Amino acid sequence: MARIQFNFAFIHFLTTTITLTTYPRVLSSDSESDSFPIIDFDSNLLFHQDYSPPSPPPPPPHPPSSSCTDDLGGIGLIDTACQIVTDVNLTRDVYIEGKGNFYIHPGVRFHCPNFGCSITINISGNFNLSVNSSILTGTFELVANNASFFNGSVVNTTGLAGDPPPQTSGTPQGLEGAGGGHGGRGACCLLDKEKLPEDVWGGDAYSWSSLQEPCSYGSKGGSTSKEVDYGGGGGGRVKMTVKEYLVLDGAILADGGHGGAKGGGGSGGSIHLKAYKMTGGGRISACGGNGFAGGGGGRISVDIFSRHDDPQIFVHGGNSLGCPKNAGGAGTLYDAVARSLTVSNHNMSTDTDTLLLEFPYQPLWTNIYVRNHGRATVPLLWSRVQVQGQISLLCSGVLSFGLAHYASSEFELLAEELFNERLCNQGYKEWKGERKKGENIE
Ligand SMILES: *[C@@H]1O[C@H](CO)[C@@H](O)[C@H](O)[C@H]1NC(C)=O
Ligand SMILES: *[C@@H]1O[C@H](CO)[C@@H](O)[C@H](O)[C@H]1NC(C)=O
Ligand SMILES: *[C@@H]1O[C@H](CO)[C@@H](O)[C@H](O)[C@H]1NC(C)=O
Ligand SMILES: *[C@@H]1O[C@H](CO)[C@@H](O)[C@H](O)[C@H]1NC(C)=O
Ligand SMILES: *[C@@H]1O[C@H](CO)[C@@H](O)[C@H](O)[C@H]1NC(C)=O
Ligand SMILES: *[C@@H]1O[C@H](CO)[C@@H](O)[C@H](O)[C@H]1NC(C)=O
Ligand SMILES: *[C@@H]1O[C@H](CO)[C@@H](O)[C@H](O)[C@H]1NC(C)=O
Ligand SMILES: *[C@@H]1O[C@H](CO)[C@@H](O)[C@H](O)[C@H]1NC(C)=O
Repeated sequence: MARIQFNFAFIHFLTTTITLTTYPRVLSSDSESDSFPIIDFDSNLLFHQDYSPPSPPPPPPHPPSSSCTDDLGGIGLIDTACQIVTDVNLTRDVYIEGKGNFYIHPGVRFHCPNFGCSITINISGNFNLSVNSSILTGTFELVANNASFFNGSVVNTTGLAGDPPPQTSGTPQGLEGAGGGHGGRGACCLLDKEKLPEDVWGGDAYSWSSLQEPCSYGSKGGSTSKEVDYGGGGGGRVKMTVKEYLVLDGAILADGGHGGAKGGGGSGGSIHLKAYKMTGGGRISACGGNGFAGGGGGRISVDIFSRHDDPQIFVHGGNSLGCPKNAGGAGTLYDAVARSLTVSNHNMSTDTDTLLLEFPYQPLWTNIYVRNHGRATVPLLWSRVQVQGQISLLCSGVLSFGLAHYASSEFELLAEELFNERLCNQGYKEWKGERKKGENIE
């Protein structure tokens, strides 16, 4: 059995921190096998896909901006202030650019409910999504000076993905009703007697290389029928670049769509938030959809210099109705300021993995947290996981190395400390920031 797993089931450390490895000591499972290349010759056969798709062609130039009054039925000018006061039903992509403010009034619906529809708002002024108002679309991109998402508001791209990147296979083949993959693999409820549970999965993970700046759609879940496609849709894409203040009291959603009892859940999409400062206790979610087998979580990256409240962030896999103990694999959450990666399945038990591939060297990541039933795996014959700070396995987090079908594989683990606590602290927060409230670097 080539696979080495760290779950520390046999160690119950109740102290807060233990140091197992001190840089630069190296833990290695097998010192004989130096000759393995990083990715072995038939890795394509093993994975059936390319994890790092070629970069897409440059986007076409922007169309001219839509007009506030003529195209959107609003009041005012985008170069001063455009107010959207009644529902807008869009049928195609819109691009809104100007020097002013853009306000969507309370309760107003600004919708383009087509797969892959795109709404881009690129303004030098401020953006408000008021109380109980909603934006529904496949892709939402915002560039603004300040942006406020009020209580009860929602940017909802759930299940509205367009196509995932070419040469990725996030949608499972076959009629098993398996979940779609993206940040984590989709679950599959069909057990193969020849394989271990963690070697059976639905749609595979992709877009690892853009984990720090996620921009891919989630993928569709599989179906249980040849005639009817029951799979849930993939999660959409949200990108926000806010120069000053982001106030987030509403919800930002890029969840996979639900597949019901006959289809796999779609995988979560991508959310990328960049701001100088963020306040508010809203909800940010790119989870896998529920289904016969759950979809994998998507990818979230936050790059916020100064964070004041704790928004709730979720990137877990979807529930599997056909095998409740095996939810979709956790997606990835990257914090660009702390340079830390979190893989958490929000306590949803699973046999389905989240793939970790190459780790950056310059600069190194600071910490990797695998927690709340997240299962991270480094599925290579030779691998190195190197971080500056901590590799921490908490609340039944599992980190495994190697490939099941090879007699041996080699790995190196380099970290300042290896921290694990199988039990969970009470009151422990899903997204434990490096900086606590009131301790922001300013
Ligand atoms: C938008 O569509 C909804 C139903 O989908 C309809 O109730 C509403 O009147 C439409 N609004 C506009 C402004 O066309
Ligand atoms: C926003 O507009 C500026 C020009 O005003 C352009 O350079 C930039 O690429 C646009 N960004 C997006 C995301 O559309
Ligand atoms: C927003 O919606 C909630 C629940 O539907 C309702 O109680 C509240 O009055 C609404 N607020 C506004 C300003 O419309
Ligand atoms: C952005 O928001 C902050 C905090 O509410 C405010 O102080 C600042 O003036 C705003 N900037 C602009 C250009 O409106
Ligand atoms: C937009 O939001 C800001 C607070 O984030 C608020 O001060 C301002 O009044 C709002 N403007 C409108 C027109 O709703
Ligand atoms: C937001 O709305 C919910 C219910 O719709 C309410 O429970 C909550 O107190 C509100 N929060 C704020 C800050 O207004
Ligand atoms: C988001 O959209 C999905 C699919 O259109 C819908 O089922 C869900 O209720 C929406 N969520 C919110 C909070 O509006
Ligand atoms: C996970 O489970 C542990 C132990 O039951 C609990 O303390 C922790 O709060 C849970 N975390 C989440 C995110 O549900």
